[in-house]
Amino acid sequence: MGAKWTNADIPDQTGRTVVITGATSGIGLITARELAGAGARVVLAVRDPAKGRAVAATLPGRTEVRELDVSRLRSVREFAEAWRGRIDVLVNNAGIMQVPEARTEDGFELQTATNFLGPFALTTLLLPHVTDRVVTVSSQLHRISRIDLTDLAWASRKYDDLRTYADSKLAVLLFTLELQRRLAEAGSPVRSLAAHPGIATTNLVAHRGRSATPFSFLLNDPEHGALPTLFAATQDVPGGSYVGPDGVGGVKGHPKIGTPSRRARDPRLARELWDVASRLTTADTATRAPQSGK
Ligand SMILES: NC(=O)c1ccc[n+]([C@@H]2O[C@H](COP(=O)([O-])OP(=O)(O)OC[C@H]3O[C@@H](n4cnc5c(N)ncnc54)[C@H](OP(=O)(O)O)[C@@H]3O)[C@@H](O)[C@H]2O)c1
Repeated sequence: MGAKWTNADIPDQTGRTVVITGATSGIGLITARELAGAGARVVLAVRDPAKGRAVAATLPGRTEVRELDVSRLRSVREFAEAWRGRIDVLVNNAGIMQVPEARTEDGFELQTATNFLGPFALTTLLLPHVTDRVVTVSSQLHRISRIDLTDLAWASRKYDDLRTYADSKLAVLLFTLELQRRLAEAGSPVRSLAAHPGIATTNLVAHRGRSATPFSFLLNDPEHGALPTLFAATQDVPGGSYVGPDGVGGVKGHPKIGTPSRRARDPRLARELWDVASRLTTADTATRAPQSGK
C-alpha cells in the first residue's frame, strides 16, 4: 500500500455481499462501483428502482437492485424482512441535507428520518445477517450539533435546516459508537464503523443551487469523497473508528482515522438516544442478541 490510500488498495472482495443504501448517486454510487469492480456482490438499496437499474447497468461485476426508502419505516421493515442470507458489509450511505421542512408518513422530520431513524431501524433489523461490519456515513457537521433528545422528531421546535442535518449526523455517529459498544459487550466479531467524506462535490445540496462552486478545488471530488467509506468497508480498522479525509479540518484528502467530537463519544447520551430511537421506530429487538452469519 502507498503512503496515501486509494481505491487501488481495495483488496479482492470476491465472495462478499455488500448492501449500500443510496447507491444511485455520489459517494454511494462510487462505493458500489469500486466494490463490485473488486468482486463483491453489491446490492443497491435505492428509493427509485428504475434509477437504480439504470445505474446498475453502468457498473462492473455483480450487482442487484432492491427498493428501499430509508425515510419510511414500512419500506425499511419490508427490505429487512425480505432479506435472506449473509451480509458481509452494510453501508448506511443514503442521506439528504438542508431540504425544506417536511414530515414523513411516520410523522418524523424528513432529514432525521432519512439520516438517522431509518438507518437505525435498518441496521438493527438487518444485524442478525451481518457477518463483518456496518459502515455508516456521518459528517464533520456533527460537531455543531446540540441535539435535543426530548424532541428528536423536531415536533415542537422551529425548523432549522442546518441544525437538523447536524443533529442527524451526530445521532448517527452516537448510534455507530453505541452499536460498537453493544457488539463488543456481546462478544460479536461484527464491527460498527463511521466514515465521512469531508466536503465532496456531489448532488447532496444541488437542490439549493450549490452543486458548482468556484472553490471546488478546495473540496474533495466525489471520487476522493468515497475513499473513507471504501477504507472503512474494506480495511482492518478497529470497531468504532471514524474515518475521514486527512486534510486540514478533515475537508479534503485521503482516508485516515480521526476523532469524533466529545459529544459523539458520550456513552450516556448514546444510550439515551438509542432508547429514544428504539421507542420511535420499535426496531431494536435484533440488537439485544447480536449474532453472526444468519
Ligand atoms: N457530499 C458531502 O460533502 C457530504 C459531507 C458529509 C456527509 N455526506 C453524506 O454522504 C452521504 C452520501 O451523500 P452524497 O454526498 O453522495 O449525496 P448524493 O449524491 O445526493 O447522494 C445521496 C444518495 O442518497 C439517496 N437517498 C436520499 N434519500 C433517500 C431515501 N429516503 N431512501 C433511499 N435513498 C435515499 C439518493 O437517492 P436519489 O438518487 O434517489 O436521490 C442518493 O443516491 C450522505 O449520508 C451525506 O449526508 C456528504
